[in-house]
Amino acid sequence: MLKSFDIYSQNNILKIIVALNLLLVGTGSLLYTDRLITKLEDREKQYVQLYANGIGYLFGSSHPDAGDLTFVTDQILQANTTIPAIYVNADGAVAFSKNIDDIPDGLTPEEKNQFLQRKKLEMRKKHKPLVVDLGDGQLGLVYYANSSLLRQLAYFPYALLTVMAALGVLAYLAFSSSRRAEQNRVWVGLAKETAHQLGTPMSSLMAWVEYMRSDPDQFDGSITDEIAKDVQRLETITSRFSSIGSVPTLKEENLNEVVQQFTDYLAKRISTKVKMTLASQLPPDKMVRINKLLFEWVIENICKNAVDAMKGVGELRLNIVALPHQEVAIDITDTGKGISKANMQKVFSPGFSTKKRGWGLGLTLAKRIVEEYHSGKLFVKSSEVGKGTTFRIVLNAS
Ligand SMILES: Nc1ncnc2c1ncn2[C@@H]1O[C@H](COP(=O)(O)OP(=O)(O)OP(=O)(O)O)[C@@H](O)[C@H]1O
Ligand SMILES: [Mg+2]
Repeated sequence: MLKSFDIYSQNNILKIIVALNLLLVGTGSLLYTDRLITKLEDREKQYVQLYANGIGYLFGSSHPDAGDLTFVTDQILQANTTIPAIYVNADGAVAFSKNIDDIPDGLTPEEKNQFLQRKKLEMRKKHKPLVVDLGDGQLGLVYYANSSLLRQLAYFPYALLTVMAALGVLAYLAFSSSRRAEQNRVWVGLAKETAHQLGTPMSSLMAWVEYMRSDPDQFDGSITDEIAKDVQRLETITSRFSSIGSVPTLKEENLNEVVQQFTDYLAKRISTKVKMTLASQLPPDKMVRINKLLFEWVIENICKNAVDAMKGVGELRLNIVALPHQEVAIDITDTGKGISKANMQKVFSPGFSTKKRGWGLGLTLAKRIVEEYHSGKLFVKSSEVGKGTTFRIVLNAS
């Protein structure tokens, strides 16, 4: 059965809603700007038509009253300060141009002419040139392009979307970091409280063990030893909780030895049908800064999951690997049921468990211990459903 806290599914719904909104606003503003651009393009075309008419009046021959209107047409021609335009006369030569910002400096008249001819062809791709009636069947052409304002407007929806996406990411980061801070407080508080609560009965139990030891006639020595071992185990658990509840100290430890000792210890406690092996590439005396107690807890959690995944039968291999940049990895491989692609990230979420009695906390804790207390990494290195899984712990050994 699959369990997971509701907040995660709600969180996903929230993400979908935000993404949908972004999409809606994005396409909305794109469509709206598109309409706006079409309208403005129409208006600019009308303006260029006016401009072409003005040229016709000024330079055409068949307008006897052109002289009277010169000042008007002159003003129309002058007023165009935004729309790039090239006027080509009846001979097909560029007579003059307006608002073409990118003419390179220092061109000879011939080069400038060639440049404008090329520009004209470019303009024709977007807008059909407007005809200037010069009279006597003579026709000129005005080529034009969108004004810079219109060109900028085309970028507007993308700028808007970028800003919105950036805001979205910021909001998400703020939200998740505050959620993480809250989770941290819960973890630390819970761990401290547990250690504290266990402290009293523990010391009382230890006193009882001492008492039993002092009277071997009445209490069977071997039973006392067994109880002492259990008390010892409880003490380890208490210290783990207490160290996760405070800032744990790291110490240089011989990694090979620590893992070896701990796997020996674990091997005695898991099914004999699990074949456990350990191999290491590290030099025998390689030291790594870890908190031994917490690090063992990580290995224990991962190995226990591995044994569960194999239903107590299979192979469990631990491999200590030397990585470049002074990093070491501990790969823990099982021949169990594997993890589906969809669950690869979820296994680290608190509350995610596929087990009847699972709390779904083992890997969450392990990840916290590795990443926050040891500045390392813990992830599923590979997994195949029905074949097995490898978890990798990466530690910095410099
Ligand atoms: N080696 C593995 N192979 C296959 N699935 C795994 C393996 N390790 C973890 N999982 C999956 O990840 C889930 C979460 O593991 P996690 O250790 O966090 O919780 P749990 O084992 O279910 O409960 P507990 O809190 O008791 O550890 C498991 O329920 C299991 O579905
Ligand atoms: Mg577990």
